Amino acid sequence: MAELTREAQAASQIATGQPLIELKDIYKIYQMGDEEVRANDGISLTICRGEFVAIVGKSGSGKSTLMNIIGALDVPTKGDYFLGGEDVAVMSDKQLARIRNKMIGFIFQQYNLLPKLNLLENVELPLLYAGVGTAERRERAMASLAKVGLAEKWRNLPNQLSGGQQQRVSIARALAGNPSLILADEPTGALDSRTSRDVLNFLKQLNEEGNTIVMITHDNSIALEARRVVRIADGKITFDGDVKDYAAIL
Ligand SMILES: Nc1ncnc2c1ncn2[C@@H]1O[C@H](COP(=O)(O)OP(=O)(O)OP(=O)(O)O)[C@@H](O)[C@H]1O
Ligand SMILES: [Mg+2]
Repeated sequence: MAELTREAQAASQIATGQPLIELKDIYKIYQMGDEEVRANDGISLTICRGEFVAIVGKSGSGKSTLMNIIGALDVPTKGDYFLGGEDVAVMSDKQLARIRNKMIGFIFQQYNLLPKLNLLENVELPLLYAGVGTAERRERAMASLAKVGLAEKWRNLPNQLSGGQQQRVSIARALAGNPSLILADEPTGALDSRTSRDVLNFLKQLNEEGNTIVMITHDNSIALEARRVVRIADGKITFDGDVKDYAAIL
């Protein structure tokens, strides 16, 4: 019994130290007429399982571009990306779709809930795409809604909820597939400061439970809640370190 526990502990320690995201000299270059826009200009970044990283930077600095590459929604112009040790560049569209579905939960500023579907149906969607059967889908989606405290509202439509509640539904949708990675692009961008704090506390709790979280924000007070901060300016990393060291340079 004690043996098993030690083994389990060792396994979880190894798991948290493993690189989940490895970006090596990533460029995303847009050719706009005669001009080159270097949205990502040589970014190298490793994020391990269990981390909670905030990506900060001014508007237009390249945060969403980087997030789209990390989420395998877009491909870099140049550079290597390994997700869970796998080279993303050699994956087929089908494999990419599967990875997005199984490994990554996305949270967006504008929630992206479908207005005609009730909360349960919205949360079920990624599971539907992943080919999970009806009964299991229902069960997992309800469990996910319960996790964000909205199980009793499962019949409601998104527009019957407050902004903070809608964001919690989108978090439930991101969690339903049990992803290894949660990517959030300005998750509190449309919320007032109190509701932002609630959503943030929820993300922190998910991280404490072992989820890896990468969150974009332009708000330093939000970034200070993460454990590590990566700052981007003009497509380049200008700071990468512990949140305490980031706080010291503000
Ligand atoms: N499809 C595109 N075609 C041309 N230029 C683009 C494209 N997408 C992004 N860019 C440019 O790349 C740069 C980085 O954009 P990105 O969306 O990554 O910024 P951001 O840091 O997320 O900004 P924000 O905080 O305003 O969301 C910007 O200069 C933008 O205009
Ligand atoms: Mg953006």
